[in-house]
Amino acid sequence: MLSKSNSSLPIGVFDSGVGGLTVIKSLLKVLPHEDFIYLGDTARTPYGSRSAETIKRYTQEDINFLLRQRVKLIICACNTASAIGLNDLPKEITTPVMGVINPMIAIVKENATSNATIGILGTRATINSRAYQSKLKTALPKARIFDIACPLLVPLIEENWIANSATRDVLKTYLTPLIKSSPEILILGCTHYPLLKKEIAKLLPKTLILDSGNALAKSVKALLTTNQLINSQKQPGKIKFFVTDSSTQFNSVAKIFLPNISNIKAKQIIL
Ligand code: DGL
Repeated sequence: MLSKSNSSLPIGVFDSGVGGLTVIKSLLKVLPHEDFIYLGDTARTPYGSRSAETIKRYTQEDINFLLRQRVKLIICACNTASAIGLNDLPKEITTPVMGVINPMIAIVKENATSNATIGILGTRATINSRAYQSKLKTALPKARIFDIACPLLVPLIEENWIANSATRDVLKTYLTPLIKSSPEILILGCTHYPLLKKEIAKLLPKTLILDSGNALAKSVKALLTTNQLINSQKQPGKIKFFVTDSSTQFNSVAKIFLPNISNIKAKQIIL
């Protein structure tokens, strides 16, 4: 599907819930004329506490939904699905599917000193998959890596408990080992976590905090440009939102996170 004739098609983006909106926000900055179709699988969030087989099945179903919408590129805006669900996709899928892990490793490599201390926060499934740790070891063999699974953060964010004292306490407990080692770089290895970036930065003021959206947006723009797939329309792109469960919470978090987009109303669908 990497053909110039597909340039006016939308880009499909999916996540287990609101997390992928942080990726959309970064994509809009560098690709303002692209149309997007966003799927948040809110009925089955969080993915990060599920087994590998379940994550693979959910990922495949999300991709199948976006393929039915006719998109030119699929972005897996979920670290958990990128770490586990994108392995062994059926060969019949000709639409390119991009995950968030490789673009992040590239950005870390650009920014880190060779023996840097690097922290990784992620869901339990992402941390246990060791996807980040093994790629980082190859890219920066002398780096010291601290990985921390934070399974309580996604449910708190999906509830819109962002500037909330309970969330701050949970965050502080998870980050205690990192506060001691004050890493040079912290990878937010879950697309939900940028919603807590301000709180995280207060706890780690000297650390460079990297999120999936910024890392990925650069790679997406390069892929579209190389393949002459940039949408040539003059007006700003449109976004259609789909969710798999009641969309009230999703709409309110989306409005906070994407304040420039008016009237966000996700349509509820069954996968
Ligand atoms: N935002 C996702 C991620 O990047 C999914 C979190 C979850 O559903 O557990 O991992």
